[in-house]
Amino acid sequence: MEFRTIEWKDHKAIIIDQTKLPLEERYLEIMNYREMAKAIKQLKIRGAPAIGIAGAYGVCLAANEIATTDMTVFKNRLSKIIEELAATRPTAINLFWALDRMKTILASNIEQTPQAMKQMLLTEAMNILTEDRETCRLMGEHGASLLKDGDTVLTHCNAGALATGGIGTALGVIFTAANQGKKIRVFADETRPLLQGARLTTWELMKAGVDVTLICDNMAAWVMQQGWIDCVMVGADRIAANGDAANKIGTYNVAVLAKHHHIPFYVIAPTSTFDLSLQTGAEIPIEQRAREEVTHGFGRQTAPAGVAVYNPAFDVTPNELITAIVSEQGIFAPPFHFIKT
Ligand code: MRU
Repeated sequence: MEFRTIEWKDHKAIIIDQTKLPLEERYLEIMNYREMAKAIKQLKIRGAPAIGIAGAYGVCLAANEIATTDMTVFKNRLSKIIEELAATRPTAINLFWALDRMKTILASNIEQTPQAMKQMLLTEAMNILTEDRETCRLMGEHGASLLKDGDTVLTHCNAGALATGGIGTALGVIFTAANQGKKIRVFADETRPLLQGARLTTWELMKAGVDVTLICDNMAAWVMQQGWIDCVMVGADRIAANGDAANKIGTYNVAVLAKHHHIPFYVIAPTSTFDLSLQTGAEIPIEQRAREEVTHGFGRQTAPAGVAVYNPAFDVTPNELITAIVSEQGIFAPPFHFIKT
């Protein structure tokens, strides 16, 4: 990739500001945990695995801000901040998964000095990033076996390198297939209201030389009816034990359309996105976002002042609409009964 979504450099986290894309490729130096929490809330960094990595680096920033040699004081202060970071976005389980890994380091090394602990936390955050890169590579390999030369894929939101520490989930599959010499064409839903498809997915695919066509969300049915789509590939923010999968709002629409048109619908997500404490998707918390995202898209008012607005950021696709789920461990076909190993 010609860009880095998130990295650690000189005691700071560097992120590409996704709210500025595609017009500007601007990198932000995140100096403290409050800036990181804000960056996650404002979607400057977004996508399930990427916000997990951002949360972990947020813990490292916070650790460096705590000036004490007393380990109990250090642990208590950091634990409170971890809860603040966890409160930034509710749906993607990867954030809580990564923060839990940081908490485990903190809890299991209580005899260490705060100074030594800071280094251990940084090592864990870097491991989370490095492992995600490998996880994306493996999902790409598994998923690419589902694509043949000449296929056209429809995708929703952004499930690419911008959403992860590696090549992406759904887009990682497309990049891998393209690298294998397969000619793959993509239709990208624009993804109302924040346009992750239009702004981010097309940007990534064009940069990589993949043939991509942008459509408005409400064009997907028509494009499918023309017979142009061979399969749908999307990422996920949280997958329940029965395979129900939360992803960007509008994903469920696409899954219903795919079923109607007999088009395979694939979800590509790492095991860090699975929440096996939940039996079904009905238990997945859905983030509600500001009304202005709908009434004032990108600053311009497009609805009457005072109109009632409903703005859920995610929906849940029921398992019966999913043809297969691809993780770094392989391709899983229904019926889905994921269990903790
Ligand atoms: O609100 P966002 O942009 O963070 O939503 C992101 C998505 O819904 C992605 O499709 C999902 O995180 C999977 S991408 C690896």
